[in-house]
Amino acid sequence: MPYYSSDLIEEVISQNDIVEVISEYVTLKKSGRNYMGLCPFHREKSPSFCVSMDKQIFKCFGCSEGGNVITFIMKIENVDFWEAIEMLSERANIDTTRFEVNTQYNKNDSAKKDLKDTMFKLNRDVGLFYHNNLIELLKEEKNPIKDYIISRKLDIKTINKFGIGYSTGKEPLYDYLINLGYTKDEIMASDIILPSKNGRMYDRFFDRIMFPIFDIRDRTIAFGGRAFGEKVNNKQIPKYYNSQENDIYHKGKTLYLMNFAKREKLENIIIVEGYMDAIALQKFGFLNAVASLGTALTENQARLIKKYTDNVIIGYDQDGAGQAATLRGLDILANHGLNVKVLKLDRDDVKDPDEYLNKYGPERLKNCIDKAISLVEFKVDILEKDLNLDNFDSKVRFLTGVSNILAKIDNNIERDLYIDKISKKYGMSPGPIIKEVEKGIKTKKEDTVELDMNSLNKKMQLITSVRKRQEQYIVALLISKKKNIQEEIINNISSFDIEDENVRKIFDFILSLKDKYDINKIDILSKIQDEDMIKEITDIMYIDISGYEEKLLQDVLKNKKKEKLFTRRDEIIKRLTENISNDESEILKVELNQIVIELSKLK
Ligand code: UTP
Ligand code: MN
Repeated sequence: MPYYSSDLIEEVISQNDIVEVISEYVTLKKSGRNYMGLCPFHREKSPSFCVSMDKQIFKCFGCSEGGNVITFIMKIENVDFWEAIEMLSERANIDTTRFEVNTQYNKNDSAKKDLKDTMFKLNRDVGLFYHNNLIELLKEEKNPIKDYIISRKLDIKTINKFGIGYSTGKEPLYDYLINLGYTKDEIMASDIILPSKNGRMYDRFFDRIMFPIFDIRDRTIAFGGRAFGEKVNNKQIPKYYNSQENDIYHKGKTLYLMNFAKREKLENIIIVEGYMDAIALQKFGFLNAVASLGTALTENQARLIKKYTDNVIIGYDQDGAGQAATLRGLDILANHGLNVKVLKLDRDDVKDPDEYLNKYGPERLKNCIDKAISLVEFKVDILEKDLNLDNFDSKVRFLTGVSNILAKIDNNIERDLYIDKISKKYGMSPGPIIKEVEKGIKTKKEDTVELDMNSLNKKMQLITSVRKRQEQYIVALLISKKKNIQEEIINNISSFDIEDENVRKIFDFILSLKDKYDINKIDILSKIQDEDMIKEITDIMYIDISGYEEKLLQDVLKNKKKEKLFTRRDEIIKRLTENISNDESEILKVELNQIVIELSKLK
């Protein structure tokens, strides 16, 4: 990654409206001059996550996360500062080359980034090594690997496109990487090589078909390796080995082949379970297919999808889709505002989309995709399968279950349509279902609280001590854009007057700025990278002091004066208890009297 001038930071902030960017991850509702939503950084039922359009900042009043658009991307994408800058530049089509500089911006930052860059490169080299191995093997007349590849209907175009490979032990990967110039530490950090007891360096994926896993920026971040041959059938070894999570690979944030899918104009995304399912779908022209790689879907994956489309079709293995973990995953998607449908294969002699495609072809699968059922219908189906509807008891349980599912639908029309459809399908009268559903809706209403900025602000004030609040006002005044006010603060207040460490740090930081008299609120935030300071400054920015500046300034100055007098008073009182001369004692008493009078005036 090149080094950029700090002008790029300002460009990125001005070209990426925070409300628009956050809306790609969080459903926001307008509330006065702010936007509110459910915080993506902690679990909550009622919204305390607030985005300010005017100030271009966000703040969660629940978990206290806060910052600007860059901070948001860093947190949500789990990337470092400059990676966030690059992602946002890409989003806003900013030509970053204009901002490239040769000098190092921050040594510490760059060391960490360099290691990550090395890991990306190393993974890519490993992927190429595996890939070339496979290409060589395919040139041979006949061998078991080639047979297996043919049996899985993987053609050369597909193998090349997805970088599929084979991890042979013939030429040890470790030596290969050393020859490319990687250090032992770098190689070990990648976790692909494991040392054995006798000191040999093993490829942990030895003798497997290799699938490189890419991030959405096409970088190789991990691998999945499939064993083949008899051993797998005997279940002596796991079918797949996968890379461990590390600095560049976060399983729950990745969707396999999303980097390919996102290149298309996406009406919807098909999520399947396995490597081979996603590959087969893409091979047959379903370029919107990605794989969750056998794990339950996460909030991060939901957000990733939401960036590209609002519609998801789940194409899980026919046996696995009923599991609780799967259902939870689908609910997560729905909770993020995604419209979820479930693919049902119309044949039960095949287990997954890959097998279906190879046996029945793409047209027939397309037909199934078009008929995918809604998440609600899918849940009702599962309920039905679990119960035997012939008996009275289970019929009651079925009805209650269905009512619970339907009560969760927010849209009245949609809910009524389902009631109609389901009561017809199961030959039941809709009356009792409607009653049960209404009961469910009522309890649901009771545990959601209306979003209300005022009460949130009050809550914040209660958490913050009076003393700290006063100190926050000092900084709020300092960035108030009113020149005379700023000057008064700068001339009368020093960093010794501020007790709270974070507030003090910000105060000192602002005073150290060259252009401190021309402060622009957004600029300050873009210059701070310390997390505690970012949280503090966003808190302060949310304090609305407009119209009260003069009064607050007087308060601040008065408090400062009071504090000085209190300190002096305590000093005198202490001195008076000591063994001092009568003269001194008299002088001090006069001063003390004076202080008491002044303090009473200041009340
Ligand atoms: P499946 O067992 O459905 O395998 O696991 P598959 O994808 O259909 O693979 P093939 O067609 O037999 O080659 C689905 C996914 O779960 C993960 C993998 O990501 C796999 O693609 N998995 C499965 C593992 O990580 N480890 C395992 O041992 C098995
Ligand atoms: Mn399969």
